[in-house]
Amino acid sequence: GALAVSQGVTMAPALAASGALSAVLGYFLVSSIGGADMPVVITVLNSYSGWALAAEGALLKDPTLASVGALIGFSGAILTKIMCDAMNRDVVEVVLGGKAAEPVVEGDVVDLGPHREIDAAGAAAALVAANSVLIVPGYGLAVAKAQYVVAELVDELRKAGKKVGFGIHPVAGRMPGQLNVLLAEAGVPYDIVYELEECNDDFADTDVSIVLGASDTVNSGALDDPNSPIAGMPVLRVWDAETTIAFKRSMGSTGYAGVANPTFYKENTQMLLGDAKDTASALLESLRAQL
Ligand code: TAP
Repeated sequence: GALAVSQGVTMAPALAASGALSAVLGYFLVSSIGGADMPVVITVLNSYSGWALAAEGALLKDPTLASVGALIGFSGAILTKIMCDAMNRDVVEVVLGGKAAEPVVEGDVVDLGPHREIDAAGAAAALVAANSVLIVPGYGLAVAKAQYVVAELVDELRKAGKKVGFGIHPVAGRMPGQLNVLLAEAGVPYDIVYELEECNDDFADTDVSIVLGASDTVNSGALDDPNSPIAGMPVLRVWDAETTIAFKRSMGSTGYAGVANPTFYKENTQMLLGDAKDTASALLESLRAQL
């Protein structure tokens, strides 16, 4: 495409051929991806867009375009490497693509046994009794816009002398760093926000872990079920805590990858069902009444 532009002539066949080649490359790149691996592809495509810009700059002899393109290309490549490491995926496999992922059939019924439910007052009582709390926020926190009420909740708990932290999975939410930005926006101090490797071993010494609108990133099936579409992906081991309280709207839905989540059915998991902003607000109110 850039060649056609630089020559100043209509090169419809070259454009058509490069379009067709890009479509084939795009198909192979994306067809090998299971739902939860999507962030890796997004970063690869970001990087490619930079390299395309750099090539255009070189052909048009425009140094600014070439340097900006290279900057985007390198940043995307570095982010791809970071994502691949974080997701336990091979960068070469991602770039070459080609292996079609098993489709997840929507509506597949997986019997994971009974789940347990808790209400806001019960969750507040568990927090009052706890000394340490680790919160794992996910996409649902962003959907519910619950970051402000959660920041208030954390403030109350810390004032009561409890150790509180956040564990952020590298692909939590729908954009790299989305949850970090939302928590920062709500005024949560940086020094209690931990990355996956920094806090994953701490769940075992934690009284209450809170799953706040996260699913794939806390799915125990990624570790226990070798046939799971997300098998091998590192997840936050929230179930290692003495009790887990999980916020989501209903038991019938899954996370982004469309995979059922056994974590929500574990014996030490209590579900707090409802929109995260409403349930977190009720929890905050109850907590203030009990502290
Ligand atoms: P998800 O696996 O998407 O789970 C979101 C959870 O939030 C679900 O359990 C959902 O259950 C709940 N939820 C949604 N709206 C809610 C609300 N208003 N109140 C309470 N709960 C709500 O989230 P995750 O754990 O953050 O994982 C992210 C996923 O996105 C990964 O698979 C990742 O690969 C993928 N992804 C990430 C990116 C980047 S770069 N971060 C980009 C593309 C894709 P209910 O519906 O029952 O409420």
